[in-house]
Amino acid sequence: MFDFNYFTPTKVVFGKNTESRVADLIREFGGTKILIHYGGGSVVRSGLLKSVTDTLDAANIGYVTLGGAVPNPHLGLVYEGIELCRKENVDFLLAVGGGSAIDSAKAIGYGLANEGDVWDFYDYKRQAKGCMPLGVILTIAATGSEMSDSSVITKEDGLVKRGYSSDYGRPKFAIMNPELTMTLPDYQTACGCTDIMMHTMERYFTNGGNMEITDALAEGLLRTVKKNAVILRDDPKNYDARAEVMWAGSLAHNGLTGCGNDGGDWMTHKLEHELGGLYDVAHGAGLAAIWGSWARYVYKDCLARFKKFALNVMEVEDYGSDEEIALSGIEAMEEFYRSINMPTNLRELGVEATDDDLVLMAKKCAIGVGGQMGSAKVLDEKAMLAIYRAAM
Ligand code: NZQ
Ligand code: ZN
Repeated sequence: MFDFNYFTPTKVVFGKNTESRVADLIREFGGTKILIHYGGGSVVRSGLLKSVTDTLDAANIGYVTLGGAVPNPHLGLVYEGIELCRKENVDFLLAVGGGSAIDSAKAIGYGLANEGDVWDFYDYKRQAKGCMPLGVILTIAATGSEMSDSSVITKEDGLVKRGYSSDYGRPKFAIMNPELTMTLPDYQTACGCTDIMMHTMERYFTNGGNMEITDALAEGLLRTVKKNAVILRDDPKNYDARAEVMWAGSLAHNGLTGCGNDGGDWMTHKLEHELGGLYDVAHGAGLAAIWGSWARYVYKDCLARFKKFALNVMEVEDYGSDEEIALSGIEAMEEFYRSINMPTNLRELGVEATDDDLVLMAKKCAIGVGGQMGSAKVLDEKAMLAIYRAAM
């Protein structure tokens, strides 16, 4: 077991109609002039944005709005947001939406609290010294960005998708009303469940420092999301299932399921980020499409963990050699993805990549991780390319 810091400063306000408390929460954290940042319009169509602005109007809290954060959010809008906030003397950011709106708001926050080009942080050139405070009203259970230290932005020039992590970016509060996720398309619900599970699995498949308590939390979370993803496939308006998945999403990425280990593997995410940058695929679907190929490439180097996963999460029969059990677990996971209509290879994802494209992605991925990365197995550019090829 390794030493660890566990820092989750986000105040969580969870349950029905909790969005009505947004004005009080903004006041509690010192906001007086707000940027409401959102995505492509689902919050306009659902009426959520109107209800938020009505609440702020009634509380006499000034605000400006900026929509347009696309899935795989763009740097260009971040610059626009920074400029708008400076002009309007904004002192608090409110993201209303999913990971894309939240991440874009975090990037705007870094840009406002630091001199120079905000992309420097995503380009690993320097560290932020602060972030403008932000709050969240979450509309999709997926990334865990509502409690996480991460933000992922795509630079349009070169389609470079990069993440930046800093405790300064952790939201001050997160309003989570599971009912708000009921308007999600089924595909996005399934993508969200996949991402939530992957955040825990990235921390689970490691070769260092694993703790019994952390494993028990992780395995419980994975079983819960697996079960409720299927319930939501058949009954998308099931409140309890929405709630289970929503809370799991936050716990999967606020650090809880990594306490005591070496920080996790994270290569499935890194491989997916290249897909998201180049082909603009939904993040969760991209993860599902690459995971099986990654797992088959690395499992022998992390066999005990793959066996434990097969038995305790996928609940396969404890029969055969360790390798056979591990492989049954991987197959069962892919079967689960298919059962919720997630892809298990790049073609099913809709990506018709040429071999040159795969070579380019492996190159960019290797550069993005500084040459090599991974804990289940350390991967270099050659290994990354082999996984992309296997995923075709
Ligand atoms: O943009 P709008 O119109 O709001 O529509 C969105 C979008 O099309 C829609 N949606 C969201 N809530 C809805 C809804 N539609 C109907 N009803 C609702 N209640 O769903 C689509 C996806 O939204 P998005 O915010 O893009 O999804 P997600 O939360 O999955 O975020 C994905 C982004 O987050 C990054 C991903 O790489 C990707 O760029 N990640 C961020 C992380 C973090 N900050 O910690 C970690 C993750 O691993 C991930 O990399
Ligand atoms: Zn993710």
